[in-house]
Amino acid sequence: MENKVEERGGWGSKFGFLMAAAGSAIGLGNLWKFPYLAAKFGGGLFVVVYLAIVVLLGFTMMLGELTIGRSTRLEQYSAYRKLNKKWGFLGALGVLSAFMILSFYSVVGGWVLKYIFTFLTGGVKGDPGAFFGTFSGSVGEPIFWHALFMIATLLIVLGGISGGIEKASKIMMPLLFLFLIILVVRVLTLPGAGAGVAYYLKPNFANFSLDVVVKAMGQVFFSLSLGMGTLVTYGSYLNGTEDLQENALTIPALDTLAALLAGLAIVPAVVAFGMDLDAGPKLLFITLPKIFDSMPLGGIFGLMFFVLVFFAAVTSSISLLEVPVAWVVDSKGWTRKKAVFFFATVCWVIGIGASLSLGVWDMKFLPNMGLFDTLDYLTSNIMLPLGGLLMSLFYTFAWGYEAPIAEIKKGSTFSLQSFWKLSMMVLVPIMMAVLFLTQMGILKL
Ligand code: PHE
Repeated sequence: MENKVEERGGWGSKFGFLMAAAGSAIGLGNLWKFPYLAAKFGGGLFVVVYLAIVVLLGFTMMLGELTIGRSTRLEQYSAYRKLNKKWGFLGALGVLSAFMILSFYSVVGGWVLKYIFTFLTGGVKGDPGAFFGTFSGSVGEPIFWHALFMIATLLIVLGGISGGIEKASKIMMPLLFLFLIILVVRVLTLPGAGAGVAYYLKPNFANFSLDVVVKAMGQVFFSLSLGMGTLVTYGSYLNGTEDLQENALTIPALDTLAALLAGLAIVPAVVAFGMDLDAGPKLLFITLPKIFDSMPLGGIFGLMFFVLVFFAAVTSSISLLEVPVAWVVDSKGWTRKKAVFFFATVCWVIGIGASLSLGVWDMKFLPNMGLFDTLDYLTSNIMLPLGGLLMSLFYTFAWGYEAPIAEIKKGSTFSLQSFWKLSMMVLVPIMMAVLFLTQMGILKL
């Protein structure tokens, strides 16, 4: 038993855990999706709705995941099985989701490295649209950068919990916030930024509808890394005396802060330069490079921006890799080293397929979707909301509330106990069911 605990490892400090968990949450979702959603679907109104969902859904689910992890000190498949033999499948679903997300997320991580390199060597020359199209659609280059990104992820996870994940997150996350704040200041001092801030934050009722609430729910969910057991896994390395309630409030708060700052850096810049605001790769790899291109000292700000995106992406990808790694270390007795090499390689190989599906490989897995889009669609729209829904059912029908509440109380007074329980029993399943059914296209709002 002693040995097993040593092989697992644990967080070295409260701050380290917080940075690692915030690192998992703060990722591409905050940067390339939140600013777009907020600006397009209601401005300040969207932000208010988003905040309400963070409190209702984000806090509840996050506390739920952390508690399962810490009370069992096991990776999620073993954790669910330990708490109730029949529920191992839910842990397995989470492991599968993490594995699938890592396979396409790391491809984008590779693009980010390519852009860091590009900005180091003089910036994007010529039309950024053509530059990105040619690059992402080609064969060898994206695979090369994807490999580098995977190696970075692998090296960090190889270092273990406190020596790898925690150490990297403690350096990268404060720098990420610093760079983000510098960029916000730069952008807000651009001529015309004021109109952009208004576009971003002025409540706009005309663009708001029920459907927007569902969009916000999906965004909160993905952005907080919920529904796939990352936080069960991270929580399993806690030692028993931390204040879980406080962490379940602080992690979402940091994630939301990063999203809001990203919006302040991105939306006014896009507006000031008279561009269209998109979400996803187009925003990050085409629109923003165009802006950096025409901004004084844009080369430096561009470099700073892509380093920041790299920190965001890699602190998320390590949490994704840790999930399958922890699974085989805890339940199959693998060494960390073997597990890390195995899963990083397999995800890299699947990622090659995902990368090629954006260019030469036109096989479809779902109607009109190549491998990259299929992995993204299945995880974000189906597996994560389903994972969230099932977790709330697990609490209510399998584990109950007595043991988890006692677990949470080991580290705090748990002032939000009644709210949490009610939210987990009633709000979460309703919200998750609505999210799941709309994403599946069964429910139309
Ligand atoms: N939360 C990350 C983001 O916003 C993505 C992620 C999802 C990371 C699930 C880990 C697990 O980009």
